[in-house]
Amino acid sequence: MKPDLYLLADKLEKTGNLTDEEFAGILLCDDPDLFECLAAKARSKKEEHYEKKVFIRGLIEFTSYCRNNCYYCGIRRDNRKAARYRLSKDEILSCCDTGYSLGFRTFVLQGGEDPYYTDDIMAGIVGDIRDRYPDCAITLSIGEREKHSYQRLADAGADRYLLRHETADRDHYGSLHPEEMSFDHRMKCLWELRKAGYTVGCGMMIGSPGQNTEHLIKDLKFIKEFEPEMVGMGPFIPHKDTAFADEKAGSTQLTLKLISVIRLMLPKALIPATTALGTLDPAGREKGLMAGANVLMPNLSPVSVRKKYSLYDNKICTGEEAAECIRCLKERVSKTGYEIVTDRGDPA
Ligand code: 5AD
Ligand code: FES
Repeated sequence: MKPDLYLLADKLEKTGNLTDEEFAGILLCDDPDLFECLAAKARSKKEEHYEKKVFIRGLIEFTSYCRNNCYYCGIRRDNRKAARYRLSKDEILSCCDTGYSLGFRTFVLQGGEDPYYTDDIMAGIVGDIRDRYPDCAITLSIGEREKHSYQRLADAGADRYLLRHETADRDHYGSLHPEEMSFDHRMKCLWELRKAGYTVGCGMMIGSPGQNTEHLIKDLKFIKEFEPEMVGMGPFIPHKDTAFADEKAGSTQLTLKLISVIRLMLPKALIPATTALGTLDPAGREKGLMAGANVLMPNLSPVSVRKKYSLYDNKICTGEEAAECIRCLKERVSKTGYEIVTDRGDPA
């Protein structure tokens, strides 16, 4: 590997930042030695703050209805073939019960932007989970809402919020979303979530159609500026019933490289090794942990609805019970030298 790339990796490790040209040098280099060098530095940064711990979040995909029409997503409004479902409050609570007894201390309520779940209904669900599990973190991942709605759900007991920015480039955003969706509004939501007191996560797909190095550099700069506590990144994977059905999937290697780079930029970040990464590459989640990720998000949704929450094709773990997934994950994680822990896993 060229010596100047080692120097860049050192600079990133020491300062947590690089110039645009330097980021480009790292992103464009395919040398496996650079991957390993970045990953080794990312692992030691992670371990300074989190030792060998891997945090688990129980993902409850509670609605597959969505009012949005993002071109990449399998549950987009116009996909007539998508199977739609909604979980009731009792069904959601029963997922939490199962999760709690399996050791989960964070529940992530994720869904499409479904107007059925008004502020009243959502606040009722969040409030009941909060009452029943005072020792657990409640994370929401329910898209763009009004400022007062974010505030109300925080007041009801939600602690964290995941809203991927998807891309920090306005034109690229425009090519992934219909005109009715606004880049500015999405970014505004992230700042409002921060103001409402949430622990906030942003993130992007890697290898989404039209994405180039310049876009990724903008993502890195936005992430540096916003300083999210959590960063969710997975490879883009085409879904057969979308306009992007014939597009190429993102790359495992580039996803891993970005995990390492972001770990070095934000040493304390909570970074999941995503299900999309595990779908693209059977060892993707383990590789994600070795690249600097420290979170896994197994599915707690009822098996009867799992296949219906289909954002992309061939998603893994759609046939297994939660207990089965967690047993499998524990085994897989222990082989990497890391260890699943069952505390809330707040940011260090
Ligand atoms: N491939 C990979 N990730 C996807 N998402 C949506 N569709 C896809 C896809 N086809 C991601 C988006 C969204 C998150 C919930 O899932 O980044 O924010
Ligand atoms: Fe779900 Fe292995 S993690 S079955």
